[in-house]
Amino acid sequence: MARKKLLLGNWKMNKTPSEAKEFALGCGDMIRFAVDNGIDVGVAPTFVCLQTVVENAPKDLIIAAQNCNEHDHGAYTGEISIPMLKEIGINWVILGHSERRTYNGETSVACNAKIKALLAASMTPVYCCGETLETFEAGETKSFVKKQIEEGFAGLTAEEAKKVVVAYEPIWAIGTGKNATKEIAEDTIASIRSVLKALFGEAAEEIRILYGGSVKPNNIAEYMSEKDIDGALVGGASLALDSYRGLIENLVK
Ligand code: PGA
Repeated sequence: MARKKLLLGNWKMNKTPSEAKEFALGCGDMIRFAVDNGIDVGVAPTFVCLQTVVENAPKDLIIAAQNCNEHDHGAYTGEISIPMLKEIGINWVILGHSERRTYNGETSVACNAKIKALLAASMTPVYCCGETLETFEAGETKSFVKKQIEEGFAGLTAEEAKKVVVAYEPIWAIGTGKNATKEIAEDTIASIRSVLKALFGEAAEEIRILYGGSVKPNNIAEYMSEKDIDGALVGGASLALDSYRGLIENLVK
């Protein structure tokens, strides 16, 4: 089964609600273009911007939160639950981004609980993994990422695993302008797929795996030519409408 290509913009801690609304109102033509060309496109605004993007963007735009809590409600100050997201029309959540792992202590085991909670709510988790420069230079990328995948996917059935999107983002490539070559990205992503195959058999062929880390309009097409790379998770280049359009146009090519 062919995997549908996916472009997801990770806005991180950028855009106020009015700026997010402006993007939502301005992206209609490019979302139509993406849909006409059979690709999925989305953005992940901050929590306070989610509702305005839901209300003002075309319905085909996937809108993801950047985190969630695994509990439905309770004494978890500062947290946002899955039912809260669902009620405002959010069905996708990014989990385990390296910035959350670094600054907020997010672990693969914690992500596993969130992945299970999202799947139970019929939502789509986008599970991020990736190694530091030190790990990369030590030649330990594959074993490091294997552990992140095994812990994140622990206890899932093959049917559930198919519904998870994976994003491989080498930390040394995020926001640095030093994108991984397409060969490095493909090599690691193919190894992630073989880890998933060992866990879930043929279902691994249906799991979408994205590359992320300094993806720009002028390099996105390179990644898409690789057989295991199904799209991109893009930070900086997803913020401006022109650049977002460039990503879509070059992904489709
Ligand atoms: P970048 O961020 O595209 O700005 O490198 C990617 C990400 O962190 O998801």
